[in-house]
Amino acid sequence: MTIPSVGILGTGSYLPEKKMMNIDLEKIVDTTDEWIVSRTGIKERRIVSDDQATSDLAYEASLKALQRAGITAEQLGLIIVATVTPDMTFPSTANLIQERLGAKKAASFDLAAACSGFLYGLTMASQSIRTGLYQYALVIGAESLSKIVDWEDRNTSVLFGDGAGAVVLGKVDEGYGFLSFELGADGGGGDFLYLPGGGSRCPATEKSVKNKQHYVKMNGKEVFKFAVRVMEQVSESVLEKAGLLKEDVALLVPHQANLRIIDAARKRLELPEDKVVVNLDKYGNMSSASIPVALDEAVRGNQVKRGDHLVLVGFGGGLTWGGCVIRWDQEMTSA
Ligand code: ACO
Repeated sequence: MTIPSVGILGTGSYLPEKKMMNIDLEKIVDTTDEWIVSRTGIKERRIVSDDQATSDLAYEASLKALQRAGITAEQLGLIIVATVTPDMTFPSTANLIQERLGAKKAASFDLAAACSGFLYGLTMASQSIRTGLYQYALVIGAESLSKIVDWEDRNTSVLFGDGAGAVVLGKVDEGYGFLSFELGADGGGGDFLYLPGGGSRCPATEKSVKNKQHYVKMNGKEVFKFAVRVMEQVSESVLEKAGLLKEDVALLVPHQANLRIIDAARKRLELPEDKVVVNLDKYGNMSSASIPVALDEAVRGNQVKRGDHLVLVGFGGGLTWGGCVIRWDQEMTSA
């Protein structure tokens, strides 16, 4: 049996309408636009409305990805939603999407690997297609981080934003699509970035709410050091596995957490600025949604053409990391 090549057939993204600028944050915490821009590169972020949940964002992004892939929801065999902000603990956000899309033949589940979640999802879904288990899979990264951020904590509130990105995976021409993957985890760094409340260790109580246990906690400096190291290592490793060199990279699509982290990785990989997708100035860090939204914008902005080698690389809470190399199969797809 020949193992088929698997790649991305269509991309889509959705950002909530409401923008929150840095000057809006100046009114809530002791910060400045100048500090946020110079330390992170973030200028604004999108915020969901009170009645919007993660599945609402994921649904909109999915419709676009399906349309661009030219398949119907009924053809999907698998739906994976990477998220740390599901609508509820269960049913999974993927189940909610499955029902809303009418993807009656699809198995569906959520995947929690923080900002690396989308890359974990891509890896699992592509292997399922390669082995013949499914023909088409929908992988979504979607977050409503504004709902788990302590708006009084300037260490975290300035960083995050809400949004969703989705891709449809399927068979592509031989030699195209995913060429290599790498995933990793270091549970020892779990307390650098975590949300203590709401699970079985610390269920919601009056006290846990009062103690702000249901908000993100972060040791920014440790995450920063880890991120710079891992972005370079993973990019080099997936390139090597694909038999490629740094100069073969047409586009790097990194996780969008901090411009200084992206720049450090870019310099170590000796890539010029125009080969790196950056959109965190507009959206902040959207965790699992950052990479698929950046990819969708690059595709729609005609930054990607058939035969290009793309490196997707990310890191996140867990700690987790992941990367892959894609030889792009689709012709340029305008908006
Ligand atoms: N506004 C103004 N001042 C601030 C702010 C703020 N929002 N936040 C911190 N400061 C202050 C600090 O209190 C400190 O003051 P001090 O010197 O008087 O003590 C000073 O600014 C410097 O603080 P640092 O923490 O040293 O700032 P740093 O340059 O490290 O930047 C940052 C902080 C932006 C958080 C950075 O460490 C970072 O980006 N880390 C990675 C975070 C990350 O990527 N998280 C997401 C991971 S992905 C996921 O899974 C969700």
